[in-house]
Parts: sequence; structure tokens; C-alpha cells
Amino acid sequence: MSIKPPAVSFQQVQKHYGDLPALNGVTFDVRPGCFFGLLGPNGAGKSTLINCMSGLVRPTGGQVSVQGHDVIKDYRQARRLVGVVPQELIADPFFSIRELLKIQSGYFSLRGAAQTRWIDYLLDRLALKDKADALTHELSGGMKRRVLIAMALVHKPQVVVLDEPTAGVDVDLRKTLWEFTKSLHRQGHTIILTTHYLEEAEALCEDVAIMKGGELKTLESTETLLSRHNYRYLRVKTGQGHGTESLVDPLQSRLADQDGNGFLLRLEKDLALNDVLAWVAQSGVSVQGITSRDATLEEVFLDLTGETK
Ligand SMILES: Nc1ncnc2c1ncn2[C@@H]1O[C@H](COP(=O)(O)OP(=O)(O)OP(=O)(O)O)[C@@H](O)[C@H]1O
Ligand SMILES: [Mg+2]
Repeated sequence: MSIKPPAVSFQQVQKHYGDLPALNGVTFDVRPGCFFGLLGPNGAGKSTLINCMSGLVRPTGGQVSVQGHDVIKDYRQARRLVGVVPQELIADPFFSIRELLKIQSGYFSLRGAAQTRWIDYLLDRLALKDKADALTHELSGGMKRRVLIAMALVHKPQVVVLDEPTAGVDVDLRKTLWEFTKSLHRQGHTIILTTHYLEEAEALCEDVAIMKGGELKTLESTETLLSRHNYRYLRVKTGQGHGTESLVDPLQSRLADQDGNGFLLRLEKDLALNDVLAWVAQSGVSVQGITSRDATLEEVFLDLTGETK
């Protein structure tokens, strides 16, 4: 039985921009067929890492391989396997969408009727059919982003990388994009997604890596990451205009949020709920309802990256 190589393997990847270590020895693998989330605050090194995969950035050290093909030594093979939707909008203003997709196909020596059908399919799925003959500078921002997605998929790459594909796009495209991405995933493609919308990542990604300052902080299945978190959250609904000044000390230090309708407590998982309820009673709060829930990916992320208030 042959064992499949990882979809992507990063080994001690380094990238220095002058004195700045944008990537400081990043090592991890992406499982074949995984819907993978690459998360991290601004400047964490996500795009730099992705660009090392597609050949846009040359690492200062370490190795990157796609399905076992080194992206430098075996560039052509590795490049064929990857389709990157870049974060930055770059498209040649002097070509129509259809021309751009044909040119992009040409880079991979793909032509003929089957390729034309695939281009038509992409234009249709990404709602670009009506604009197929428009020049890219005549398009709106969201439409330009759709063109980038079509360009990345023109050669049906095994590994599809989306670098913040939903930044600044409307609800409609977001929905179309996720439906399309999920169908690619079902067909066996590996999807790597970076996003600052952590709700999206939580709903879509099977595994999640969190980077900060050019380093990998954690990589786990989304489920494990959420269940390993030390806290749960208790929302207490109070009577109108009831403040939180009266809360006794153990609750004050665990107050995570408050609004006109009540407050949110961040509680260690091993804290007895009976104690918490006793503290609420001691505080003289008129309780109208209590709901408990586990942490969201956003809360875990803030905890791990120290981006919390
Ligand atoms: N071409 C470049 N020249 C110099 N520094 C760069 C260059 N590209 C990126 N950097 C720096 O490398 C670091 C990582 O940037 P990168 O774009 O990879 O972050 P990111 O995680 O994608 O952030 P964001 O969430 O904002 O997209 C940042 O400090 C950035 O300023
Ligand atoms: Mg980026």
C-alpha cells in the first residue's frame, strides 16, 4: 500500500526581509484532501508562506513541497498542482476576462474544446458570464476578485489556496464562493484558506493552524482546538438597566462582556457551576435567563495570539 505524501509540506521555512524574519522556521504538513485554515493576525506571515508555495516568494531557508514535489527543484510539477487566489488584486487591465483565462490556460499548455468548456463552467459558477468580454479595469472590486478565483482554478489544481478570498466581497459572492469551494473539497481537492472571519473558518475548516510573528503557534483539528480550550462562557440575561457594579469579586474578574440586556462570564471549565450561581445570587442580580456555551474559534484565537483586550 502506498502512503500519499502530504498535500503540502513546509519544513523549517524561513524568509527574511532585511532584518525582519517574516517566517522564522515554519514546519507543518497539510493532509491530502483537507479543508485547512491558516489563521493569524495581520503580519503573521500567512501570505508570505503561501507565496513560498506558488513561487512568488523565494524562501531564505527550508523547503516547501507540494505532493512530494519541491517547489524550487521541481518547480513546474509543483506549480501545476497549486492554484493560488492572491490577497492582492492583480489583473492586466488590457485583456477581457475570457482572454485572461485563455492566457492563463496557455501557461499550463491547456487548450482545445475541453478547456473552453471548463472556462465556460468557471465563468458560469462565478457569475462572470455576462462580463466575460469586459476588460478587467471595467469591473468592480468584487468582480475582479472572482476573476482571480477563476484564474487560480483554470488548470484544475489539486491544491487550491485562497488568501482572504472574502475580504470586502458581498454576501452573494461569499455564498457562491463557499458553495464552489465546498464542491471542490468534496471532489478531493485540498483547500487552504486564510481568513480573518473566524466564524467562516470554524464552519469550514477541518484543521486549523495559527501563526503569529512568523511562527506556528498551533496546528490541530478544529474540534480538538475548541474542546482543549480551558474556558466556557455563561451568558446571564438581567432586568433592563441592571449594571454589573454589584457583581462580587470572583465574577468581576471573569466578566468578558456586557450590554443593556446582561453580561457574559468567561469561566474556567473546572469551576463548579453551583459556586458561580451562588456568586450571582450574592451579587443581587435579578436573573431572567442563563445560557452556557463552549468557546468559539474567535475566542480561542484571541487567547492563543494574545490579541485580547
Ligand atoms: N515584500 C516585502 N518586503 C518587506 N517586508 C514584507 C514584504 N512582504 C511582507 N513583508 C513583511 O512580512 C511580514 C509578514 O507579512 P505577510 O503579508 O506574510 O502577513 P499576513 O499574515 O499575510 O498578514 P495579513 O493578515 O495582513 O494579510 C510583515 O511584517 C510584512 O510587513
Ligand atoms: Mg496576508
